Amino acid sequence: MTSHHILIQPSGREFAAEADETVLAAAMRAGITLPHGCRNGACGSCKGRVLRGSVLQGEHAPAALSPEEQGQGLALFCCARARSELVIEVRVADALDGVVPRRMPARIEHIEWAARDVAILSLRLPASETLNFRAGQYVDFILPDGVRRSYSIASLPGADGPIEFHIRHMPGGTFTDALFGLHGPAVQERGILRLEGPLGSFYLREAALEPIVLLASGTGFAPVKAIAETIFAKGLNRDDPRSGRRARSVVLYWGGRTLADLYLDALPRRWQQEQANFRYVPVLSEPDAPAAADAPDAAAAPHAWNGRTGLVHHAVMEDLPDLSGHQVYACGVPVMVQSAHRDFVAVCGLNEANFFSDAFVSRADLALAQALLDDPGPP
Ligand SMILES: Cc1cc2nc3c(=O)[nH]c(=O)nc-3n(C[C@H](O)[C@H](O)[C@H](O)COP(=O)(O)OP(=O)(O)OC[C@H]3O[C@@H](n4cnc5c(N)ncnc54)[C@H](O)[C@@H]3O)c2cc1C
Ligand code: FES
Repeated sequence: MTSHHILIQPSGREFAAEADETVLAAAMRAGITLPHGCRNGACGSCKGRVLRGSVLQGEHAPAALSPEEQGQGLALFCCARARSELVIEVRVADALDGVVPRRMPARIEHIEWAARDVAILSLRLPASETLNFRAGQYVDFILPDGVRRSYSIASLPGADGPIEFHIRHMPGGTFTDALFGLHGPAVQERGILRLEGPLGSFYLREAALEPIVLLASGTGFAPVKAIAETIFAKGLNRDDPRSGRRARSVVLYWGGRTLADLYLDALPRRWQQEQANFRYVPVLSEPDAPAAADAPDAAAAPHAWNGRTGLVHHAVMEDLPDLSGHQVYACGVPVMVQSAHRDFVAVCGLNEANFFSDAFVSRADLALAQALLDDPGPP
């Protein structure tokens, strides 16, 4: 089979891609991690420039790569295949060098129902397996028919004990309907799941010096929890007199519709008591909304909320109108991540290279993007 040589600028790294594999998959096979998130053409994280040669760009959402950008030589490497030798321009995630995702089985040790629509899964790997990952990364669950679903790791890298995932129910969804017992083969304690990982280039840049803004919506808290716990475990939020390194301040904004969406609210409140230079700002967009009709406490009056309200990324902009000297780590629903990226860069002066994110793109988002692509528009 034909393979094409690919040179990455400015790093000078090289690898070969088979004609039938994407540029991203070929790089990962060679142990080189290019930026990526959904690997589905929906989030735009893998966007880079083709400096020389040509690619066959696969299906993707126009929001991730517009026709204009394509005309300017940009490509989404998660769904682009090389048609010739290539020189591409993209930032390599050096800290992930040599991280080649592996497949492994895992046993579901425990399921905690953290909210009406959120389950916390604790998975145990076989004694012979380890998952070397960076805080913020995710794995794919490979379902029996080969279908994949991505979930961010919520626990601390290298910790003994089970690996934790926070999973929100998406009604009508293949995996989460099975997890929440609605239909499909039940996902239960002591069951076995097949994983592939670690994946993603959303991870904590530990050597940087900037203050950190953590931004999460819903179960986007999962990788943010892993990142926060890594910061605390490594003491990055404290001055280090031995090395002279100054503390990085950390502020977490966690948004949901109602308080029930902040399913581990007590945890960041505790961090705020225990940790230096850490602040927690919960933000609710509809604090007075009644609980869903099928919720166990649907009849109960909504809790009085005297905290912040509105869109979670707006709360960041109100408090930190100048983000030029910050790093932002954002995770959750695509609309929140995209709005934060756009507004933080355009309005608050955030350096684009200091915005790190994972958007929880689902099949509903992919279907919507496809429908927009197919829509011929007004006659
Ligand atoms: C990098 C990454 C990390 C993620 N991490 C997490 C995480 O930590 N926690 C978390 O909760 N989620 C996470 N997600 C989202 C997760 O991967 C799944 O998308 C989600 O759990 C739904 O899976 P499912 O099989 O239940 O639903 P799916 O079967 O994928 O369906 C999702 C929704 O789309 C609807 N749908 C399906 N097909 C169509 C169609 N053709 N047209 C219109 N609507 C349709 C379904 O009814 C359902 O409501 C992450 C996603 C990514 C990309
Ligand atoms: S669009 Fe390529 S990784 Fe999401």
